[in-house]
Amino acid sequence: MQGSDQFYKDIIDLLPVYLTIQNRDFEILYANQTFKKDFGDGTGKLCHTVYKGSSVKCDQCPVERTFNDRKIHISEETVQALDGKTHQMIVYSAPVFDDLSNVQYVMELATNITTVKTIQRELTGLGQSIAMLSHGIKNVLEGLQGGAYVVDEGIHDGDMNLITRGWQVVKNNIIDITSITQNVLYASKKRTIKLEKTSPADMVKNLVITYQSKAEYLGIKIRYDINRNLPDVNLDVLSVRRLLNNLVSNSLAACANDKSKQNHQVIVRAEVYNELQFKFEVEDNGSGINELTKRRIFEAFFSTKGSEGTGLGLSVANRIVKQHGGKIEVESEPGEGSLFRVILRM
Ligand SMILES: Nc1ncnc2c1ncn2[C@@H]1O[C@H](COP(=O)(O)OP(=O)(O)OP(=O)(O)O)[C@@H](O)[C@H]1O
Ligand SMILES: [Mg+2]
Repeated sequence: MQGSDQFYKDIIDLLPVYLTIQNRDFEILYANQTFKKDFGDGTGKLCHTVYKGSSVKCDQCPVERTFNDRKIHISEETVQALDGKTHQMIVYSAPVFDDLSNVQYVMELATNITTVKTIQRELTGLGQSIAMLSHGIKNVLEGLQGGAYVVDEGIHDGDMNLITRGWQVVKNNIIDITSITQNVLYASKKRTIKLEKTSPADMVKNLVITYQSKAEYLGIKIRYDINRNLPDVNLDVLSVRRLLNNLVSNSLAACANDKSKQNHQVIVRAEVYNELQFKFEVEDNGSGINELTKRRIFEAFFSTKGSEGTGLGLSVANRIVKQHGGKIEVESEPGEGSLFRVILRM
C-alpha cells in the first residue's frame, strides 16, 4: 500500500488543512476531504462562491497573485462554512507548473486560525484593560500623595483643620483603591455566592454611614430611606455590598461632575417590591446618562470618566445581580439624574 497513489491520496484527503486546486477562473478542480466535509463538494464551483458566498473575486486574491507572479502568497480571509459559522483562515497559494514551466494551476491551502484570532483579540483586550487599570490606580495614588501632603502641612503648621481635610482626602482615596482592587477580583474570578440571612435595611444604613464623610467632602447629601419591616433575606453579603458600593460611588461621581445644580443628593433605599421580591434603589440628581451611553454602561471597561474610571463598576454589579437571580434597571435623564434599581428575591 505504502507508495501507491491511493496512499498519497488518502494522506492529502486527511490533511488537517483545506486544500484546493484552482484554474485561472478560480474554479475548484480538486478539493480534499477535509474541505468537502466543512464546505461541501466544491469541485466545479468558484472559490469565492464556496468560501464566501460571493459572486465576485476577493479583493486581494492570493490565487490570482500567484498566477500573475508565480510566487507563493499568504493572506488572511474570513469564510463561512456549511454550518453557517464564520471562520478566520490563513491562506497559502502556490503555483503548479506544467511541462513548459507555465503556471497551470494554483494550489490553495487554508488553515483555520479562528481560535488563534480569538486569543489574539482577548490578549489585545487584556492589554487595554491593564492600561485602563494602571491609569485608575495611578490617579488614586496621586490622590493619596496629595492628601498626605496636606496632612504633612497641617502637622507642620499645627493646623488641625488642614490635617482633618488632608486625612479625608486620604480616606476617600483608600475607598477608591479598595473599590478598584475588589472590582478587579470580582471581574477576574468566578465566585460562587454564599447566601446568609441579612437585613437589607441594615445593609443600606451601614453603606450610607460608610460614604457619609466622602459625600460631605464633595458637598453632596447622602441619606437612606428604608422600610424597617423588610424581613431578613438570603444574600451573599460581600457581593451585594460590592454592588451597592459601585452604585453609590457612581452616583457621587455623577453629582460631583454635574455643575448645573447647586445642591446634590443621593438617596439609597431598601423597600418591598412585591410579595416575593424587594428592591434596592440608588438615586441621584447628578449628570444623568444619555441614551447612547446607557446602552453600554454594563460592558466591562466601558467608562466615560477617562482615567478617573476603570469601567468595571457596573459590569461587576450586573454580574452580582445575575448571580442572585435578580434584575437591575436604570432610569435616567441627562441633566436630571439617575435611578438604579436592583430587584431581588425576598
Ligand atoms: N449614576 C450615574 N450617573 C451618571 N452616569 C453613570 C451613573 N452610573 C454609571 N454611569 C455611567 O456608566 C459608566 C460605567 O459605569 P461603571 O461604574 O461601570 O464604570 P466607571 O464608574 O466609569 O468606572 P469605575 O466604576 O471603575 O470607577 C460611567 O462611566 C458613567 O458614564
Ligand atoms: Mg463606577
